[in-house]
Amino acid sequence: MPHRNNNMRIMLHRKNTDEAAHHSDQGVIRKLIPGEAGALAAHLLRLEPDSRHDRFTGGVSDAFIVGYARHALRPGSVVHGWFVDGTLRAAAELHPYGPRTPALAEAAFSVEGPFQNSGIGSELMGRTILAARNRGIRLLVVRCVVDNRRMQAIARKYRAELRFEFGDVVGELANAGPTPLSLAREMIADGHGFVGSVLDLQSQLLRSA
Ligand SMILES: CC(C)(COP(=O)(O)OP(=O)(O)OC[C@H]1O[C@@H](n2cnc3c(N)ncnc32)[C@H](O)[C@@H]1OP(=O)(O)O)[C@@H](O)C(=O)NCCC(=O)NCCS
Repeated sequence: MPHRNNNMRIMLHRKNTDEAAHHSDQGVIRKLIPGEAGALAAHLLRLEPDSRHDRFTGGVSDAFIVGYARHALRPGSVVHGWFVDGTLRAAAELHPYGPRTPALAEAAFSVEGPFQNSGIGSELMGRTILAARNRGIRLLVVRCVVDNRRMQAIARKYRAELRFEFGDVVGELANAGPTPLSLAREMIADGHGFVGSVLDLQSQLLRSA
């Protein structure tokens, strides 16, 4: 049966977005920089066929993914990556729609098969909600196929701060806007990501020495 696309839209209330997230100490989460389109493409290409289908809500070619990744790290977009031993294994993309609709953004999530169901997607959802709030995004759209239970389970974890509407639209996220605390939390998370990456690189170098 063909999958039907659904827009998952989630309403965000003022609350700590990290509370519902799991934590994984296996890897490091940090934002990707524009020069990392190749790493993003490699990660998306590693997704199993089902996951690739769910991520892009349909079948897409390898060439499409390579072109997509090049465009994904454009100015204004925020892409968090989860790295294990220096390899990008999961990503959360936040793409504002543009200056005409500055309060609207699309988000997308991808976790490679062996790492699914261990809390990474939930953690990345928290980071994405925080980044959206801090950029004045009021409406976040996650496109997902209607039977994507994992994505729906993640959204439900944030129900304390998210209001859901069911029907064609699964949920709606309207951002409460940045606060000094939410801005500080993103800065602190970025700092942790930077330190984690340095330590990760050091341990890789030690292992290969
Ligand atoms: C969807 C995706 C991002 C979720 O990431 P993840 O790291 O696997 O998710 P988490 O481990 O944080 O959470 C998954 C939740 O779904 C639940 N779950 C898993 N399979 C389920 C199922 N068949 N039915 C209901 N819930 C299910 C898990 O129990 C878990 O909830 P819990 O933590 O309360 O137990 C990831 O699986 C993925 O990349 N899928 C392919 C791409 C995709 O679908 N992207 C989303 C659209 S953009």
